[in-house]
Amino acid sequence: MKEISLTGIKPTGTPHIANYFGAIAPALEMAEKYENSFYFIADYHALNTIKTAEELRNHTYEVAATWLACGLNPDKVVFYRQSDIPEVFELMWILCNVTPKGLMNRAHAYKAMVQKNEEEGQDIDAGVNMGLYNYPILMAADILLFNTNFVPVGQDQKQHVEIAKEIARYFNNKYGETLTIPKEVIREDVKTICGLDGRKMSKSYGNAIEMFATHEMLKKKIFSVVTDSSLPTDSKPTDHMLFELYKLFANKEEVLEMERKFREGIGWGEVKRLVYEKANQSLTPLRERYNQIFADKAQIDKILKQGAERARIIARQTISRVRKAIGADK
Ligand code: TRP
Repeated sequence: MKEISLTGIKPTGTPHIANYFGAIAPALEMAEKYENSFYFIADYHALNTIKTAEELRNHTYEVAATWLACGLNPDKVVFYRQSDIPEVFELMWILCNVTPKGLMNRAHAYKAMVQKNEEEGQDIDAGVNMGLYNYPILMAADILLFNTNFVPVGQDQKQHVEIAKEIARYFNNKYGETLTIPKEVIREDVKTICGLDGRKMSKSYGNAIEMFATHEMLKKKIFSVVTDSSLPTDSKPTDHMLFELYKLFANKEEVLEMERKFREGIGWGEVKRLVYEKANQSLTPLRERYNQIFADKAQIDKILKQGAERARIIARQTISRVRKAIGADK
């Protein structure tokens, strides 16, 4: 039997370069390994954090254009929008009925909210909606609907995949072997990528370099990095953020060359110019592709709809098997 891998992507706007090197690029590489790869935009998982219809709509197009621009090939993998697959939500409801509430109480995101509320002396469920609480069951439905064998995810999603496995086992114990038990494939810890201020790159720190920033913006950001007042003839520390940034984009020889310059002395202005040029050279084709794809929303819709049609062939088969197992087949 062909092996199936599946990954969900939450629509959270355009990515920064740490998202790209830490998550997008490794996820795309992983797809090459499996015969059947499913990628979907987990738009209903984002309902929890997104505030307006406009925001969800935009973020969905942004994330679709991002992955397509970064090399996802919709002819080779199945690429769709979660909300286009009604079977996901039917399966979710069925799974709710074999999922112990206690299992959800232990889910990290919910537990973190409860803990925060406790610390602040609030009602423990303040600000918790059922979307947050049931999030892992929706994710289990995403995974189990496609008979997924492998779920490549970052460390932060490990518990969610474990929960999906448990839910599948509960279902199979009650109704007989029906659902495939998936296996998580945890991405090896990619090195933390620093932001402009040397802290971990994160949107919330305001130190991120956006993947698709204009070249002017990219230049401005790189030139805004704080450096010391050492002379151009002084050697420079290679643990500096600018060196780390250069390493992301440069090849081995170029890195060695830069290392030599750091050792022998180079002005910070010159370092910034070289980093900018290298980064811009790598990012320009991606940026151009992104802008081109994003401009044609009808084409994105078409790609996602076609993906959904392909996905639903399997989704319908699973649902009819599940319905039969629970006695909801007529
Ligand atoms: N929860 C995942 C995240 O926050 C996204 C996701 C939704 C997902 N459904 C999934 C990932 C199924 C893998 C498999 O990134």
